[in-house]
Amino acid sequence: MPSGELQKLIDERRAAFDPKKASAPRGEKVFTLNCQPCHQIDGGGNVVGPQLDGVGGRGLERLLEDVLDPNRNVDPAFHTTMVSLKDGDVQSGLFRREEGEAIVLANSAGKEVSIPKKDIVERRASTTSLMPENFGEIISPADFDDLMAFLLAHGPNRRQSRAGVSPAQVCEAGRVEPLALTRSLDRRDARPTLWA
Ligand code: HEC
Repeated sequence: MPSGELQKLIDERRAAFDPKKASAPRGEKVFTLNCQPCHQIDGGGNVVGPQLDGVGGRGLERLLEDVLDPNRNVDPAFHTTMVSLKDGDVQSGLFRREEGEAIVLANSAGKEVSIPKKDIVERRASTTSLMPENFGEIISPADFDDLMAFLLAHGPNRRQSRAGVSPAQVCEAGRVEPLALTRSLDRRDARPTLWA
């Protein structure tokens, strides 16, 4: 979808969001189904993408942008890797690690795939996100509002108590180094401070 249309969708969803109608408990189910393959919140889920504890502190506007237009602000640590294979196939995913004579990518379903290096003819980084950009279409508007309510319920207070760092300290520290972030992704207890 062209970015102008995405912005229009973001504006529409923001205007239509009614906190009295949206339900965080229902939103949790939407999260489990659509987001958990790649994200962890409150300890559940995968860590292919950033951990989302405390993400509600960003507010509705920024959350709408993050979810509906994931390619807008992609941290370099999350740039997708594209590999062309000898048989003409092209695979893309988030680089996870080297494993002997293979590289391991996480694909758009959040699943790890191992690709033998000998099959690769070209490997390059793309600036796009692994996160699908069609959630505005595949999640109904009502479910989407519930999802927003669920994320908004995970504000910075929770984060503060879990990580022992206040939101202000996080802001001061700014974004973590991409390298540190990549490393921390492999540790389930790590909490990358991406939402400064
Ligand atoms: C296939 C994996 C995948 C799925 C599924 C996915 N995401 Fe993401 N998400 C990512 C990656 C990778 C990033 C980091 C790059 C970027 O900002 O787009 C990300 C970034 C984000 C961010 C910004 C985080 C930050 O620290 O900047 C939010 C918020 C987010 N996702 C929420 C969601 C929600 C909500 C869903 C479900 C509707 C979802 N994601 C589904 C992979 C995924």
